[in-house]
Amino acid sequence: MAYAAFRSIGAYVPEKILTNEDLSKMVDTTDEWITKRTGIKERHIASKDETTSDMGVKAAQQAIERSGIDKSEIDMIICATISPDYFCMPSTATVIANKLSLGYVTAFDISAACTGFVYILSIAKAFIESGMKKNILIVGAEKLSAITDYTDRGTCILFGDGAGAAVISATENKEEAIIDIHTGSDGAYADLLMTPNGGSGSAHDALEQESAGCFMQMKGNETFKVAVRTLTKDVVEILEANNIESSQITHFVPHQANLRIIKAVGEALKLDEKQVVLTVEKYGNTSGASIPMAINDVYESGSLKAGELMLLDAFGGGLTWGSALVPFSPLK
Ligand code: UT7
Repeated sequence: MAYAAFRSIGAYVPEKILTNEDLSKMVDTTDEWITKRTGIKERHIASKDETTSDMGVKAAQQAIERSGIDKSEIDMIICATISPDYFCMPSTATVIANKLSLGYVTAFDISAACTGFVYILSIAKAFIESGMKKNILIVGAEKLSAITDYTDRGTCILFGDGAGAAVISATENKEEAIIDIHTGSDGAYADLLMTPNGGSGSAHDALEQESAGCFMQMKGNETFKVAVRTLTKDVVEILEANNIESSQITHFVPHQANLRIIKAVGEALKLDEKQVVLTVEKYGNTSGASIPMAINDVYESGSLKAGELMLLDAFGGGLTWGSALVPFSPLK
């Protein structure tokens, strides 16, 4: 049987930085409030002509190079994004595949907001285990600045841009395999986090008149409470289902939405601070890109070693959620 191995990671962060101080000149907020309530100090913002696919390509190039696998061997690409280059089509995955000259590979996007990376990891695992694909490039990329309302202090302080990518490959060695992935959703909470306009649910004249409805809107405090509850339940379930103790996790990589949410989940799991990966301070919330960007930070700091177990945990609009038990299994 083929198993799916997490071979490599890469990421890209745009150059421009938007600090809390900058935001305090745009909306009624302060560095103190943002730091205390979210843990965020700054976030990176893509340049005007830099697209989600441009960022995805840079992250993907790094992941492919680090995988030791030739790009001609990649047979599928999946992109997780809620800020695609184009509304509806073409998918950002096809654009990235073309820019990378990957040939006629299977390519598609999925929409699971901040849980996107865990969702595409689960899809990659299933395709590889079924024997249908061998080397899959998964990309989480977001230009959230393009869909953020910079007059709404409840959301604009949170979001940033960036991309992360990983290569998932077939292996016969069970020791290298992704152990388990759980995903779920509850559409009853759809209105907590949404871009209300721009889809088939909008009347045509509303599209013309209410372009602000194409920006993200969030009921932050309600989302916060569901996030803590769901993220904690999610990780407890995946650990129990696989008879793994939280002490066996080397790197707990949660979606980087809010420091308070991450701390609450970390405490509920009795995790040591050293186990918890934190990047929210410097990148803010980059939705589907947040988990691979965080894994890349650990990798580039030299702290991610072959065989170490990562626990990924995500939550986002939909509402969606997911967790994954993933050993880092580089080829070299
Ligand atoms: O990534 C996907 C999932 N997303 C999340 O998980 C995000 C979850 N939510 C959050 O991170 C937090 O709810 C926020 C950071 C968005 C807000 O923090 P909060 O502690 O839940 O604040 P709140 O919404 O309850 O607002 C408290 C007060 C309100 O003022 P009053 O009514 O008490 O006078 C807000 O108007 O803080 C006010 N406020 C602000 N004040 C200064 C809201 N945003 C700001 C701001 N600066 N940027």
